[in-house]
Amino acid sequence: MSDPKTDVLKKTPTDHEIHDLIKNRWSPRAFADTPVSDTDLQSLFEAGRWAASSNNWQPWNIVWGKKGSEAYDRIMNVLVEFNQGWAKNAPVLMLGVFDKKTPDGKDNFHALHDLGQFSANMAIQAQSMGIAIHQMAGLDHEKALKEFKFPDTYHVATAIAAGYYGGEVSDVPEDLQKEEKSERKRKKQDEFVFNGDYVQRADVSES
Ligand SMILES: Cc1cc2nc3c(=O)[nH]c(=O)nc-3n(C[C@H](O)[C@H](O)[C@H](O)COP(=O)(O)O)c2cc1C
Repeated sequence: MSDPKTDVLKKTPTDHEIHDLIKNRWSPRAFADTPVSDTDLQSLFEAGRWAASSNNWQPWNIVWGKKGSEAYDRIMNVLVEFNQGWAKNAPVLMLGVFDKKTPDGKDNFHALHDLGQFSANMAIQAQSMGIAIHQMAGLDHEKALKEFKFPDTYHVATAIAAGYYGGEVSDVPEDLQKEEKSERKRKKQDEFVFNGDYVQRADVSES
């Protein structure tokens, strides 16, 4: 297992020390041709499986398909056109789905949070294997729910493209190519970390 090689790293100007697996993760729109094996996928799902969740209800569900399969085409079919334009580069597509209800039928207000934790675990596991994941909100949520026969109490929150880092930038639609190489940006900590009352700032940065 290894972190991706330097040629697939993006400039990530961290302000404090963090683990390389977190620092070096980013969301590409091009992927290497290297196949993602079933064993690789099982490791990703296993990492997600061990995420924390409210009451250990584990409200997450994952639908997946490898390129060339019917499942892949069905997932591709529920993405918005913008995402279809680049997600076709991904050897694997997934949907992240959660059950909106607790086992006793009440609203589970933490289910989306828990699916997020699943995805974050999966992303870091993937990073340790040289695999990138790129999450997407741009999909037809209702169509996806029906397409994969989930009950109405479920919500298809995200689609996820996955594949080994190292794709060709030229495979990405032209207007998005610059982003494959651009420096990553984040808000400064003092915009969202408070050792006391929330303080609204007038001078918040753009990203
Ligand atoms: C929940 C979620 C939804 C996203 N939706 C999309 C999307 O529909 N299309 C897309 O190209 N990127 C999408 N992204 C990727 C973000 O734009 C990306 O994570 C963000 O710009 C930070 O970049 P980084 O992941 O490379 O650090 C999404 C990411 C998340 C976590």
